[in-house]
Amino acid sequence: MTEPLAAPVPQVDRGAPRLLSSPSEYAPDGVYIDLSAHFGQHVHVKCEGLNLAGSVKVKAAAEMVDAAERTGLLKPGGKVIESSSGSLGVALAMIAAHRGYEFICVTDNRCNDRNLRLMKAYGAHVVVIDTSDPVTGLLGARLQHVRNVCADDPDVLWINQYANENNWLSHYKSTGPAIAAAYPDADMVFIGAGTTGTLTGCARYLKKVGHPARIIAVDSVGSVTFGGPAGARHIPGLGTGKRPEIVDESVIDEVIMVPEIDTVRMCRKLAARGYLFGGSTGTVLAGMAGRIADERVGTKVVAISPDLGERYLDSIYDDEWVRGHFDVSETGAL
Ligand SMILES: Cc1ncc(COP(=O)(O)O)c(C=O)c1O
Repeated sequence: MTEPLAAPVPQVDRGAPRLLSSPSEYAPDGVYIDLSAHFGQHVHVKCEGLNLAGSVKVKAAAEMVDAAERTGLLKPGGKVIESSSGSLGVALAMIAAHRGYEFICVTDNRCNDRNLRLMKAYGAHVVVIDTSDPVTGLLGARLQHVRNVCADDPDVLWINQYANENNWLSHYKSTGPAIAAAYPDADMVFIGAGTTGTLTGCARYLKKVGHPARIIAVDSVGSVTFGGPAGARHIPGLGTGKRPEIVDESVIDEVIMVPEIDTVRMCRKLAARGYLFGGSTGTVLAGMAGRIADERVGTKVVAISPDLGERYLDSIYDDEWVRGHFDVSETGAL
């Protein structure tokens, strides 16, 4: 056995510690995973789930709350409400807890258990809507509940991520510039569409600075954002039942619609290779994989990964859940 003191002294990074004074402050913009070996093209995936709220939504949440404070809409001790399928709710719950606001999240029965529990852990009041509006669906029912609460209590501020300009501005200020600086010669940038905050903000920035990449939006089959018919969706995050007010098709070059079963397969394929991504990431990468398959060798691709996989252990990564929600007999083995 080696004498312990004879072992070489390890070299350690002597840089100053990175101190945070708020939980939303950490949203590293420079972390990418090289998945070129898996996709047969130069593919770098920008990881937006590596922050304390666990998803890309921390950026929009912080920007929207900051703006409400700046403009006086939100005062110390104030109340905030938002309709969220989960990730924005978790980010807002975290920020509200830290800044001393009361937060009500109106979600529906597709919100996964982990997000529900996280929001409650931060002290949020969570309302789960389980009856669809016959015309506007579950999202419509959620929004109606928000309107009712605001009508009853004028002191409650509705963040309204689908129409809030600070949602896309957060990405115009951070994610877009980060991609342009790291990949000035990228040929394609793939961005998932939920509220389209990430997509609109990045695309507007990249077009504004004359970046050469094609901007490719990735949405979920059943989402209505780009004019497709509404359909059942089981994976929260991307897609929506109501066209977001902030979407800007003038800066989008292409749209790809991904069936949810492809999302599940992509997530599981990457997990088998050591990367446990969330459903939104699976959708973006599934759309990207089909699109780049016939591109010339050497095409430089950047894809934004909005989330990680732990919150999907009971759904995408659970065989029984998948069999209960998809016809896997027709589409082959998982
Ligand atoms: C996990 C996750 N990924 C991606 C998105 C989509 O991002 P955006 O709303 O910026 O389009 C959402 C939206 O709610 C989300 O919850």
